[in-house]
Amino acid sequence: MAEQIRKLVFQTAGIPASDGADVQLTRIIGAPDLNMVDPFLLLDVFETDEPQDYIGGFPSHPHRGFETVTYLLAGQMRHKDNAGHEGVIVPGGVQWMTAGRGIIHSEMPEQVDGLMKGFQLWVNLPASEKMTEPGYQEFPPHVIENEELPEGGFIHVIAGVTNQGTVGPVKNAHTTPLFLDVTLKAGQNFEQSVPETHSCFTYMIDGDIIFPNSNSILGQGRLGILEGGSTVSLNAGQEGARFLLVAAKSLNEPVARGGPFVMNTREEVMQAFDDYQNGKF
Ligand code: CO
Repeated sequence: MAEQIRKLVFQTAGIPASDGADVQLTRIIGAPDLNMVDPFLLLDVFETDEPQDYIGGFPSHPHRGFETVTYLLAGQMRHKDNAGHEGVIVPGGVQWMTAGRGIIHSEMPEQVDGLMKGFQLWVNLPASEKMTEPGYQEFPPHVIENEELPEGGFIHVIAGVTNQGTVGPVKNAHTTPLFLDVTLKAGQNFEQSVPETHSCFTYMIDGDIIFPNSNSILGQGRLGILEGGSTVSLNAGQEGARFLLVAAKSLNEPVARGGPFVMNTREEVMQAFDDYQNGKF
């Protein structure tokens, strides 16, 4: 039996939003028309060369119950937390933070001018892991493999396994994520296995892609949700394409959100606010 190919079932460009200290961004997941894509709770895209749009950064704030993924395409961000952890994220590098039972951190621009472009993705944790010890996985770009595709183009492999067997450095047993930054030549076909248990989306960084099985097109700046199968198959448009392909296992658990805390029940969210106010993070 032929493998089922996932179909583009929904697309959106998100909405303009601001967060942190007046950082201007586009909220794509966690917005009115796309509340979540289980286990993805939020996707913010920021892209601006106006310093006043990013200079305020994200001063000290808490998280509990999920993971934050920061991936940069341009600019630099310095992060610091209440456990003494500190570092700078650079383009092509990733920080995958498991907030677990609680972390208080800041994420501030490490620049005063120039382009800042990148993503923050929130990935939910299963109930059994929401109170786990906080942890970081951080990888600079040179330790993240660029897998060359036989017909040209390449994949920056951040998490998961490609069809050619390249393994990303991020390890995650909670939702076994796939996180690929894919660059294709004009018209090039691309295929990737994605387990049927996983939610999956693409975000177009540059150019557009065409899904041959439905003749749908996803253009620059848009996110597309792909459902119903174990394979993603798509073609780059006439200008070539660069996109994120992201997937992770759906948790199918109740979600209670309270700002920077995402738990299973309202009571657990209230407990998180209490713990934060009482210095228990
Ligand atoms: Co944060």
